[in-house]
Amino acid sequence: MTEKQTPEIPRRTAIILAAGKGTRMKSPLPKVLHPVAGRPMIERIITACKNAGVTDIRLVVGHGQNLVKTIVQTMNVQCFVQVEQLGTANAVKSADIETIEGDVIILNGDHPLIMAEDISFAFKSFGEGRLDLAVISANVKNPGEMGRIVRHKGELMAIVEAKDASAETLKIKEINTGMYVVKADTLKEFLPQIKNHNAKKEFYLTDLVSLAVENKYQVQAILGSKRMSSGVNSQLELAKATQILYRRKAKELLDAGVMMIDPLRTYIEDSVTIGPGSVVYPNVFLRGQTQVGSFCVLESNVFISDCLIADSVQVKAGSYLERSQIDSKASVGPYARLRPETHIQEEAHIGNFVELKKVKFGKKSKAGHLTYLGDADIGEDVNIGCGTITCNYAVDKKKYKTVIGDRVFVGSDSQFVAPVVVGNDAIIASGSTITKDVPEKALAVARGRQTTIENYKVKTEPEPEAE
Ligand code: UD1
Ligand code: CA
Repeated sequence: MTEKQTPEIPRRTAIILAAGKGTRMKSPLPKVLHPVAGRPMIERIITACKNAGVTDIRLVVGHGQNLVKTIVQTMNVQCFVQVEQLGTANAVKSADIETIEGDVIILNGDHPLIMAEDISFAFKSFGEGRLDLAVISANVKNPGEMGRIVRHKGELMAIVEAKDASAETLKIKEINTGMYVVKADTLKEFLPQIKNHNAKKEFYLTDLVSLAVENKYQVQAILGSKRMSSGVNSQLELAKATQILYRRKAKELLDAGVMMIDPLRTYIEDSVTIGPGSVVYPNVFLRGQTQVGSFCVLESNVFISDCLIADSVQVKAGSYLERSQIDSKASVGPYARLRPETHIQEEAHIGNFVELKKVKFGKKSKAGHLTYLGDADIGEDVNIGCGTITCNYAVDKKKYKTVIGDRVFVGSDSQFVAPVVVGNDAIIASGSTITKDVPEKALAVARGRQTTIENYKVKTEPEPEAE
């Protein structure tokens, strides 16, 4: 930005319209809170505005306002309530426009594909054209319900809503994306003049165009990218927008050297990073702040949320991982579950049907099969036999810890009744229920002794005699 900035009054303001009910969504959730590839659409638009350098962001809320306000609470935006949803012009009016100076960008809250560069493009075109009002348009194959851009000899004349359009106007393929840049003074002048004389009896923001044209202001429709036109009004459009974002991310990762068996079947949120040389199988979900290193293999049907995965890690099919850390060369799964605060250290192995919660699992240790470890600290080079259970939850409804030292051998089908500590190099005999601490190098056997009775015959009752 080259303009001199006034500290109290930002030169660039964004007004995001998000008060509508979203009737066509047929959903109890306010429309702008529907997630698109993992994040509510409103959050995406606010982020795009911020990344384009807009600091004064005003959100017009109405339907489901409490919920919307809660979601955007930490995003440093000002919320304004539109009491009755009387149309897009009325929504803008609610944003206390008298206090705005400079240039204003107006956006619909239901266009989740808009990126920061689209916002910068709109401001740039507006500035270079020395305009009073710019409307960003797009050419689309199926203009459907979108407002049509009506031109005369190439010059913008008006925007006509589909419901108010003649058959001839409906044929126009250039549509209004719902993004406008306008001088604050122009907005203040024409907004009060907008009437609701139309099919929906609403105050249409689109009428700014004809008003500004009639008054010989500098108005232009500027052709933007197609993604700017992708509004979400229905579940189908929401699903399409979600798909576009997942594809966008898959392409970005492919370009950066990540291998994918079927990029159209990967569901990776844009906040996720993956190092080059890693392989992603179909139906992999990677969410939130997940970071995956290089040369990792993520097999099919894996769900990973907020995990830190180092290099050369294998996550085998069907595993479910949340808020955990996996160090290099470790392997997890198939069908493993890592619950929050689990840390699998280098070269460790977690096998099938193993669940871990709040566990530090040491270097080169193994839990290959059918095991539950919760609130546990497992040393290095430990073998956890099949069917091992930490009994961490007691009748007092509190959680207790199990500590197992280095090189401990835990035989199959053992239970640890926490709190309990097992020293280094100890051996736990198969089938033991460990209730007391086990010192270093000791062998603990805690099971019923086998009794064998030789030549044992089952006594049978004599058959009753027949009468
Ligand atoms: C609007 C435009 C249309 C454009 C399309 C692009 C108008 C009249 N029409 O139509 O030209 O092609 O967007 O997607 O502007 N809202 C409020 N308060 C209201 C009404 C709406 O805050 O009283 C908000 C909605 O929450 C939504 C946005 O404004 O985020 C657009 O409203 P919507 O009803 O979806 O307008 P469209 O019919 O899509
Ligand atoms: Ca819309």
